[in-house]
Amino acid sequence: MDWGNQTMQSLIPLINEETIRKRIGELAASISDDFRGKETIIIGVLKGAMVFMADLIRSLDMEFRCDFISLSSYGEGTDSSGRITMEYGPASDIKDKHLLIVDCVADTGLTLHFLVDHLRRENPRVIKTCALLNKEGRRIQPLDLNYIGFNIPDRFVVGYGLDLNERYRGLPYIAYITEGVD
Ligand code: IMP
Ligand code: MG
Repeated sequence: MDWGNQTMQSLIPLINEETIRKRIGELAASISDDFRGKETIIIGVLKGAMVFMADLIRSLDMEFRCDFISLSSYGEGTDSSGRITMEYGPASDIKDKHLLIVDCVADTGLTLHFLVDHLRRENPRVIKTCALLNKEGRRIQPLDLNYIGFNIPDRFVVGYGLDLNERYRGLPYIAYITEGVD
């Protein structure tokens, strides 16, 4: 993040707060129905999923534990480096557990594919995936997502946890960026 010299970028709202709130309620209802009574660990993909996960877990009607995972797939800017490394987590013992991986956006699919592949080695009972946003048209790696908030066009978005060079994560809605996208 360049603290000193921030370029002007215009935001065009794509999904407003009320629409996000309503959709998360729907997602939470189906997740609760599917996972209730099972030993569930909800694993958030840092940092982008933090806002979505915070709202999602407050709408769930079931028992669960939370954990986090940190990967590096994107460097600065808007394009994937395609190279993924695990930086942290999860801290919990996931063997025989029901896992729900929560990410902010499925783009190329490389991140979620890597994660499912990696976590599977520790023999969880079930791995399901949830992405607030889905850019199907950008897929390099096919994914079988279990829960999708919104299907969106192949354009870079920010807000609600999603960043551009660490900016805009605190924006309460999701927006396109029109200028200064490198
Ligand atoms: P994938 O591995 O290409 O599916 O990308 C997943 C990760 O890329 C997400 O967790 C985000 O960190 C980042 N990403 C992909 N698209 C966007 C976007 O439109 N805005 C912000 N971050 C994005
Ligand atoms: Mg990012």
